Amino acid sequence: MPELLQRLQYRLKSLPDGLQAHIYRVRDVAQELAACHQVDPKRAELGALAHDVCRAVPGDDLLKMSADLGVTVTDVDRDFPLLLHGPVGAELLRQEEGLNDLGLYQAVRWHSTAHASLDDLGKLVFLADKLDPQKSAVYSYQARLHETAQESLDLALLEFLSREMAVRLEKGETVHPASVDARNNLVLRLKS
Ligand SMILES: [Fe+2]
Ligand SMILES: [Fe+2]
Repeated sequence: MPELLQRLQYRLKSLPDGLQAHIYRVRDVAQELAACHQVDPKRAELGALAHDVCRAVPGDDLLKMSADLGVTVTDVDRDFPLLLHGPVGAELLRQEEGLNDLGLYQAVRWHSTAHASLDDLGKLVFLADKLDPQKSAVYSYQARLHETAQESLDLALLEFLSREMAVRLEKGETVHPASVDARNNLVLRLKS
C-alpha cells in the first residue's frame, strides 16, 4: 500500500508538531513490537502513522463528522467525544484515502478503547500508542508493560485494560463498552 503511506505522510504534515512527534515515536515502538510478534512491519508502520490522524479535531467536530461518516456513537462517546478520534479517523481514511485493509482499519478505529475483535496488528498499535516514552509519567507501570508487550500482546493488553479500568471505576467514571468486551474476551481466552 505505498499509495496509502504517501497519502498518510502528506496528511501528517498538517498536524501539530507535538502530535506528529508522538505519531513517529509510536511508529518506532510499533515496528519494534512487530519484529517481536512476526507482524508485517509495513502494516505496523501504517497503523501507527494512521492512528491519530484525527486526534487534533475538537470534540464537537468529531460528533458532526461521526454523523456525516456514519460512525456509531455510544452514550459514553457522547459524554467524551475525543474517544471518537479513532473511529472517525478510520472511517475518514476508508472513505477518502482508500484504506481497505480491515485489520488496519480496526487498529485505527479501536486504538483508544480496544475491541474484542482486535487482531495482533490492532493490539500492537493500541499498545505502541500507550508505550510512547513520553507517556511514562501517565502510565507509571509503562516499563513493565513494555516488557510484557514484547512477550505477549494479549497479556499486555489485559494488564493495561485492567489497570486503567480500575482507575476509572475508582473515580466513578464510565468505562467504554468496547473496553469491557475486549477485556472479557481476553480473560475468557487466556483462561482456556
Ligand atoms: Fe489517539
Ligand atoms: Fe496516539
